[in-house]
Amino acid sequence: MRLSSAFGILGLACEGIQLGSGKYLVPGGRWRDTEGNVITAHAGGITREEKTGRFFWFGEKKVEGHVEGAGVNVYSSDDLVTWEYNGLALAPIEGHPYLSPDHIIQRPKVVYSIESGLYNMWWHADNASFGLLLQGVATSPNITGPYTFIDAFSPLGNWSQDYGMFTDRKNGETYSLYSNGDSVLGRDDIIARMNNERNNLTEVVYTFTNFDLEAPTIVQTEKSYYALMSHKTGYRLNDVVAFRAENLSGPWSQPFPVAPLGTRTYSSQSGFTLTVVGDKQTTHLYIGDQWDANSLWESRYIWLPMDIDDEKGELKLVWNDVYELDIHTGEWRVPEGTVYYGKNAKVNGNAFKQEANFASLNTIVTGIYGNESTVTFEGVEGTGKPQWVSFYYQNIDDMGFGDQPGGSPDRIGGKFALRRISSVVVNGKIENLDTLYQWDTNKGVIHSAPLLLTLDEGSNNTITIGGLNNGIDFKGADIDRIVVYPPEQ
Ligand SMILES: *[C@@H]1O[C@H](CO)[C@@H](O)[C@H](O)[C@H]1NC(C)=O
Ligand SMILES: *[C@@H]1O[C@H](CO)[C@@H](O)[C@H](O)[C@H]1NC(C)=O
Ligand SMILES: *[C@@H]1O[C@H](CO)[C@@H](O)[C@H](O)[C@H]1NC(C)=O
Ligand SMILES: *[C@@H]1O[C@H](CO)[C@@H](O)[C@H](O)[C@H]1NC(C)=O
Ligand SMILES: *[C@@H]1O[C@H](CO)[C@@H](O)[C@H](O)[C@H]1NC(C)=O
Ligand SMILES: *[C@@H]1O[C@H](CO)[C@@H](O)[C@H](O)[C@H]1NC(C)=O
Ligand SMILES: *[C@@H]1O[C@H](CO)[C@@H](O)[C@H](O)[C@H]1NC(C)=O
Repeated sequence: MRLSSAFGILGLACEGIQLGSGKYLVPGGRWRDTEGNVITAHAGGITREEKTGRFFWFGEKKVEGHVEGAGVNVYSSDDLVTWEYNGLALAPIEGHPYLSPDHIIQRPKVVYSIESGLYNMWWHADNASFGLLLQGVATSPNITGPYTFIDAFSPLGNWSQDYGMFTDRKNGETYSLYSNGDSVLGRDDIIARMNNERNNLTEVVYTFTNFDLEAPTIVQTEKSYYALMSHKTGYRLNDVVAFRAENLSGPWSQPFPVAPLGTRTYSSQSGFTLTVVGDKQTTHLYIGDQWDANSLWESRYIWLPMDIDDEKGELKLVWNDVYELDIHTGEWRVPEGTVYYGKNAKVNGNAFKQEANFASLNTIVTGIYGNESTVTFEGVEGTGKPQWVSFYYQNIDDMGFGDQPGGSPDRIGGKFALRRISSVVVNGKIENLDTLYQWDTNKGVIHSAPLLLTLDEGSNNTITIGGLNNGIDFKGADIDRIVVYPPEQ
């Protein structure tokens, strides 16, 4: 992840970009490529090139002011942290029946066929009203493309919406995973085997009947397959579930949550998983999306290691604010951060500390609003270099809505905001203002969001958190604590 210090949706923020030295994976951070541009590769998949071992990340390109149809971007990396932009792998084509800028080109995934010597890109191909529900296929002799459109078709005569892909490490077979649509009656999720050319499907291996889930992905261990899928709440984040089986054709277990209920899967949606087989350890990574429906192009990425216990048939995402992954050994570690508690911070204006038995030191800071009612952490130690700071918060705006479409929120006058936005100011300097997005949690659920900040060297820094316009009001989320991590270099 490239480093950046600031980004503003209100035109207030400055933007400092650093290149070339990141080593941490930072779920929910603003990730940049080696040129300093924001990485735009949503709902994507990662394909490892056999001969070089290089990772290629394909995902939906999203641009400001244009919701769909911008094509598929590809980035590449040797370490999953430093990403080079390799351009548009699949470009929109004006007037094309499936690839015009008005069409849906979602959830792209790429697989190589030994048989044909071609890379095959698959995606959910649709028109703007989701009335076609097809799978698209394009091929290229070169992993980065450009990919040539082959076909968009109904897979084995059915509908297909959210698209996933899985390749079995034991036999090399590749499968399409798809929910069969919600603009038609289908409420199923299907696993279907591909042919050897990887450009068509041969048979349905299993159907998850009537679960009404989407964004499917499968992770494979020595003994098991785990199929992860999210509920259907549009771009609103919900509790992802997994099923377990020892054979793709079943029997599959009951679905179970993969993250603590109420965290909305640490504010993410499933879509892909990547297994890194190192010489000391195998690490399974969850590759999720943190959608921002208010500005899709700003959506972030949530990549987390998974803790899998095959004996118990359990799979859990492991939340880390920041972590390092060694793709050679397969090991990951979390650097030690310094914690500053809300209980010890200074409150200003109408902000106040309140008893909260689920919070650190039994206390949470609430009533944060605009630039008057704020909380200030004093005596924060810095290095003079950019450092990731994690802000632990609670945002209960959306509580009444739960995961059910059509419910009504019990906060902010019956309107819902997907997230609050806080202002974060270092050492009282407004030119240091940064914006922190705080996704809905649930009551009593504390979660964190990261910002890359540059603090002065020494321990006389202040960090002040206020509220910015979230579309409805200027409320900031309740603050539990902050954690300052060591610099990446
Ligand atoms: C999408 O395709 C469906 C089925 O052909 C059609 O009914 C619908 O009008 C199309 N939507 C758009 C926006 O073209
Ligand atoms: C494949 O892509 C690489 C990197 O973008 C490029 O250098 C090379 O020329 C491409 N080869 C073909 C056959 O398109
Ligand atoms: C297509 O999906 C529907 C609804 O899930 C299902 O009833 C039907 O059997 C499927 N058709 C095929 C050919 O798989
Ligand atoms: C793909 O497979 C289906 C079902 O087996 C078949 O009807 C169709 O002709 C195939 N398409 C191509 C392009 O081979
Ligand atoms: C999985 O189940 C299918 C269908 O029952 C069977 O043909 C296949 O051999 C099984 N695979 C394994 C690895 O047990
Ligand atoms: C504080 O917020 C008020 C109301 O939104 C705004 O008018 C004012 O300019 C802000 N002051 C600073 C220093 O940002
Ligand atoms: C710490 O910072 C404050 C202003 O933020 C300043 O007034 C004070 O002199 C500083 N103290 C030291 C020891 O640098």
